[in-house]
Amino acid sequence: MKALVLSGGAGTRLRPITHTSAKQLVPVANKPVLFYGLESIAAAGITEVGIVVGDTAQEIEAAVGDGSRFGIDVTYIPQESPLGLAHAVLISRDFLGDEDFVMYLGDNFIVGGITDLVEEFRERRPDAQILLTKVPDPRSFGVAELDGAGRVVRLEEKPSQPRSDLALVGVYLFTPAVHEAVRAIAPSARGELEITHALQHLIDSDRRVASTVIDGYWKDTGNVADMLEVNRSVLERLDPHHEGSVDEETEIIGRVRIEAGAVVRASRIVGPAVIGAGTVVERSYIGPSTSIAENCRITDSEIEYSIVLSGSSLEGVGRVEASLIGHDVEITPAPHIPAAHRLVLGDHSRVQISG
Ligand code: G1P
Repeated sequence: MKALVLSGGAGTRLRPITHTSAKQLVPVANKPVLFYGLESIAAAGITEVGIVVGDTAQEIEAAVGDGSRFGIDVTYIPQESPLGLAHAVLISRDFLGDEDFVMYLGDNFIVGGITDLVEEFRERRPDAQILLTKVPDPRSFGVAELDGAGRVVRLEEKPSQPRSDLALVGVYLFTPAVHEAVRAIAPSARGELEITHALQHLIDSDRRVASTVIDGYWKDTGNVADMLEVNRSVLERLDPHHEGSVDEETEIIGRVRIEAGAVVRASRIVGPAVIGAGTVVERSYIGPSTSIAENCRITDSEIEYSIVLSGSSLEGVGRVEASLIGHDVEITPAPHIPAAHRLVLGDHSRVQISG
């Protein structure tokens, strides 16, 4: 069995973070979301992994390399433009050969991994197997309709009037039957070859498409609240360790990871939280469910339930909560006169200012 990991796409829903960085590399508990996927593929015993890459190919390749550090062997498959998930399967035909494979969308996060699913698929071997999860608003997903016996009867891509609340999760298991299906379909209204349509083609050709409903699923929806939640849930399972330097005036409570080369002085850190390598925290409070990436500077500030990406600084800014702060961002207090907010914000930024 092989794996096909999709890491192209523009990431419009996570702007402005994805203006400068691939959406699959957005960190959760200071680790790119893509790495969790690669680790769960390796844990399921799959070593031959094709990664389909687009405009952000360089960045993905720099981060993943040959895959040896995950115990996998990576082949990069360039996709000239984001023409759809089924198009990614189409161009990967040579890599996939006639083996079964798991297709994993690199921006999806599955709590608990995929080992059990891969085993179930290997035992039962339907023509394809999809994962479903209940979501409050299915309109930005593929949506499945099941019959009374739980069989998939219909799939629709991003319907404006969904027939169920069961969204397609971005992990699919396929036998080589999918290759005929991806060749048979035409581009959708958004100009993409949809994997949802290929699956519908399998259903219409009387192939067996099995489904499993899972919990513990997350994908970016442009909703920062979701990202903060997945970060919180991963931090709750964090292995605490303090490798950086922590002075005697600092108080550390609960699960906290302080990476090598981080420096914490005269501060209070209440976990679960992670402080990245090379970050300096001084006279500050870091509250629960917070990930501070590498080479940040937090001085005379308070931050809780937030994600800060690398190279950013908060200096003397009171309390920040429920925030997602990008790379190399500077947050400092404004002068007292005039009493005004001073902002330099990138395209698609969102700011909430307390009165
Ligand atoms: C894709 C699929 C959709 C699925 C989703 C899961 O959407 O087309 O059916 O529910 O991934 O992440 P996209 O990310 O291309 O909008």
